[in-house]
Amino acid sequence: MTLTEEILHWKKVRNAVILAHNYVRPELQDIADFTGDSLELSIRAKSVKAPVIVFCGVRFMAETAKLLSPDAVVLLPNPDAGCPMADMAAAEQVRKYKKENPEAFLVAYVNSSADVKAEVDLCCTSGNAETIIGALPADRKVLFLPDRNLGGNMNLRLGREMVLWPGCCPIHDAVTPEAIRKARKEHPGSPVLVHPECRPEVLAEADQALSTAGILKFVRNSSDKSFIIGTEEGILHRLRKENPEKEFFPLLPPMVCADMKKITLEQVRDVLRDLSNQVELPERLMKDAVKPIEAMLDASR
Ligand code: 13P
Ligand code: SF4
Repeated sequence: MTLTEEILHWKKVRNAVILAHNYVRPELQDIADFTGDSLELSIRAKSVKAPVIVFCGVRFMAETAKLLSPDAVVLLPNPDAGCPMADMAAAEQVRKYKKENPEAFLVAYVNSSADVKAEVDLCCTSGNAETIIGALPADRKVLFLPDRNLGGNMNLRLGREMVLWPGCCPIHDAVTPEAIRKARKEHPGSPVLVHPECRPEVLAEADQALSTAGILKFVRNSSDKSFIIGTEEGILHRLRKENPEKEFFPLLPPMVCADMKKITLEQVRDVLRDLSNQVELPERLMKDAVKPIEAMLDASR
């Protein structure tokens, strides 16, 4: 049996569903039942009826799937796949902030641990941040965590003054306006699409700032024939597969999230066979952490 055949075999035995983020290795995207951005994956994890979910992404995503599908066995094929940005906010620090600022309303980017989610009022993803934050009362003091870039970009777009946690995605934070200007010179006329985890000065230089699903949709509906892509390079696989007649130029230097590349086909086979690397969260924590995610899903409907 080939590796793919083995995976399909065990998937059937376990009656499992494979969910994958748009950044993971191409071969994982190809065997997944569903590939999407964080918002789409949360919605899918909630509606999925399978007893076993294999999550090809990073830990906070697998935790979110577990919170939304508590009766399912959720498998994270490589337990070391984390998110450096999520690690920039610890629950203890958030509790300290709450004690010192009891009047503040806390909004957490979904790129945060379940421990942190349990401390906040509301979650958002890059795909719904504008809707979610835009609906908050203008005079309310809001702390946004952990991404100072996404929060800062929302402040600018919505004319708000949210307090920003000092975290960021190291991969998106490294993009510079100069890189965009250079790419535009090399590929004149191609729109520049970046992710809102990039710095505000980068968004000022780009044509669009969109979640990964937003980038895929924009390209699908655009009459342009070529695009400059300013997000993690894993998205190029779907962009090229779904739009074979269009051209995609990644911003340089290459944007690679090492954590998003940690999961391999072999590991997917192994966890399906052994039911290993299950995401397990204490019951009390699950009850608290699911609330801001449910509130987000309600608010973005
Ligand atoms: P989205 O796919 O939700 O845009 O998120 C990007 C990301 O950084 C996930 O880690
Ligand atoms: Fe975290 Fe950035 Fe990697 Fe996404 S791309 S998982 S935000 S480090």
